[in-house]
Amino acid sequence: MRVRVPATSANLGPGFDAFGLALTLYDDLIVTPGGSGMTVQVTGSGEGEVPLDESHLVVRSIRRGLEDLGAAVPGFTLRCENRIPHGRGLGSSSAAIVGGLAAAYGLAGVPVDRERLVVLANELEGHPDNVAAAALGGFTIAWTEGETGRAVRLATTDGLAAVAYVPDNRVLTKEARGLLPGVVPHTDASANSGKAALLVAALTTRPELLLTATEDRLHQEYREPAMPESLALVHKLRASGLAAVVSGAGPTVVVLGAADRSCPPPDGWERHDLRIDPVGVQVWSMEAG
Ligand SMILES: Nc1ncnc2c1ncn2[C@@H]1O[C@H](COP(=O)(O)OP(=O)(O)O)[C@@H](O)[C@H]1O
Ligand SMILES: [Mg+2]
Repeated sequence: MRVRVPATSANLGPGFDAFGLALTLYDDLIVTPGGSGMTVQVTGSGEGEVPLDESHLVVRSIRRGLEDLGAAVPGFTLRCENRIPHGRGLGSSSAAIVGGLAAAYGLAGVPVDRERLVVLANELEGHPDNVAAAALGGFTIAWTEGETGRAVRLATTDGLAAVAYVPDNRVLTKEARGLLPGVVPHTDASANSGKAALLVAALTTRPELLLTATEDRLHQEYREPAMPESLALVHKLRASGLAAVVSGAGPTVVVLGAADRSCPPPDGWERHDLRIDPVGVQVWSMEAG
């Protein structure tokens, strides 16, 4: 079985902790049931870094999914072909969790229940924004009801592209969260709500409004000390008319808009020219041999 799960960008400027966008950069999981034990191989991102035992995030998520389904599976081999960089704000942890949960459905031989995926993945990840986009694809708005993760998916305007600028340093999500203030001015909160609402319109039908609709007053500037180069790049790109935002908890910078609007990456950064993944995680069974 092959599971393909997209990278995701959360926040998108004013949609803090709520908005997510699935991108055409994927981790693949190749899962072969059989045997009595479990083995893990990792190539690409995280190779030589992530654990290869039961504590591996994909394995924990497969176990959680199987438990939720009440399915017993004796053993499996897991091969991870990782392309989503780790600790850069492109949702590698959410991809591992959503991919592992979807693999559990595949192992149990039942179709993926995407709403249930969002609930379980939110529990494992601790917040629903990235997992919603990885599970549903497209543009998602996520929230929690009590402890329950929920999301709606909206289709993005035709031709929407995302350019991701990825530096080679990491920012851990936990560390970036610690920089946020407990209280913000009311004027910032109200400006932010208006822009978040406008961004729904911009992403779905009015892409010409993306630059103004991606203005954030709640989180990006507060995190500057953890990622000064990222904020400098956001400011530079926005000054040239591009809708640049910090992706998730950073330090990746994403530009939303029509494709082929070029700007070379800073020295030492990678540039990925991406589109929007419309469907979210997918599971294929493969022919034997
Ligand atoms: N494919 C994976 N397999 C195992 N662990 C993973 C995988 N992807 C991410 N992780 C774990 O999640 C961490 C990165 O999570 P996080 O700090 O939230 O950054 P990101 O923005 O990439 O999600 C990694 O250091 C690793 O511990
Ligand atoms: Mg994460």
